[in-house]
Amino acid sequence: MTERVDDGVPGEVTVVDPGAGYRLDVNGRSMTVHDSFASESLLFVLRERLGLPAAKGACEQGECGSCSVLVDDDLVCACLVLAAAAVGRRITTVEGLGPVDDSGDPTVLSDVQAAFVAEGAVQCGFCIPGLIMAVHHLLDTVPDPDEEEIREAISGNLCRCTGYGRIVSAVQVAAGDRRALARTGTSAGEVAP
Ligand code: FES
Ligand code: FES
Repeated sequence: MTERVDDGVPGEVTVVDPGAGYRLDVNGRSMTVHDSFASESLLFVLRERLGLPAAKGACEQGECGSCSVLVDDDLVCACLVLAAAAVGRRITTVEGLGPVDDSGDPTVLSDVQAAFVAEGAVQCGFCIPGLIMAVHHLLDTVPDPDEEEIREAISGNLCRCTGYGRIVSAVQVAAGDRRALARTGTSAGEVAP
């Protein structure tokens, strides 16, 4: 049975047949979702149908940001988006930020992930995938954010462990590395050839 799914665009709906399966573009791969209900969230489908556990489920009400992913170039809470409404959109999770191997597993950390590790910004780690997505979104749109802009950009991502100081430092390091890379072709931690 086909179902009409409001995809959030005024005047548009997506017609899908969740029971028969549908395809999602996730991290550059076309993945088939089988045996799904139209009411399943993108978070549920990523984790439980497609085996991509990076986006975390906590509040499932759009409050904590632990499930943050990119849909096209928009940062969204995957718990608030119907998976079927993301058909035809480009979905990016933490698993897809950098190069991947043949299994689709990441082979290296992204620049933002590396900065979080270097600055000691990770404690229990639960909130980190959502924060990493929020920071990538920030730096892709604001290359040189000041502290207020950084804190505003991550204000939707709750961390119960770190106090945010080291997270802000990590964002500043990653931003500096990107600017150095743009200027010289090497990041701040590399020696120019
Ligand atoms: S689980 Fe989606 S915002 Fe908290
Ligand atoms: S590192 Fe534990 S919730 Fe953020």
